[in-house]
Amino acid sequence: MGLAQGPDGSLYISESEKGKIWKVKFNGKKEEFTEKSLAKMKERENRTYVKNPDIVLDNLERNKVAIGGEKLYQMNCLMCHQKNGKGDGVRFPSIAASDWVNGNKDTLISVILKGLEGPIKINGEPFVGMMPKFSQLPDQDIASVLSYIRRNFDNYSDSVTKTEVTIVRQRLRLIKIKQMQLQNISETK
Ligand code: HEC
Repeated sequence: MGLAQGPDGSLYISESEKGKIWKVKFNGKKEEFTEKSLAKMKERENRTYVKNPDIVLDNLERNKVAIGGEKLYQMNCLMCHQKNGKGDGVRFPSIAASDWVNGNKDTLISVILKGLEGPIKINGEPFVGMMPKFSQLPDQDIASVLSYIRRNFDNYSDSVTKTEVTIVRQRLRLIKIKQMQLQNISETK
């Protein structure tokens, strides 16, 4: 791609693959373009979405996800992990400041899709328990509730997207099919 300026101030942009050339020129009246107009244009450059994209503030869906996530937590997780996320320390572990919550997203997603049966280690501490699976929840709900716990209860991690959940769900399905095929082979032998 090439960029050049013509004598009249217009801009030429050339594209190397198909040999196209675009000419960009100012269509307004030059006399009417004042310092003030320039200042106005400059002002636009400072708008967050032009110069400094902010992944949190520019995400217009952010509040939706947060509210949805909190409700979903109350409905599905609170009875065991408790309102403050700290569990009861005996049958239900804490998800506050947890390396499971802040760690690998695929692992975290599969805990929700498959459930979890101990013994495990949480922040280095051994734990044995049984968590049911929540594969009946739609991918978006799982993404929302995980995004919620990843930024609450002393956890400081980025969100989980619906697509990330879909991918893990598909992968788990494929693994299951493979296992069933292998079982079939060994049974027919
Ligand atoms: C019936 C009780 C119960 C419910 C409901 C439940 N969990 Fe769990 N959860 C557990 C238990 C027990 C473990 C530990 C399992 C083990 O020892 O292998 C666990 C482990 C976890 C872990 C990994 C360990 C940790 O402490 O960080 C995460 C993350 C987690 N749960 C998140 C959730 C989320 C999110 C929900 C709601 C969608 C949920 N749980 C619902 C009981 C529950």
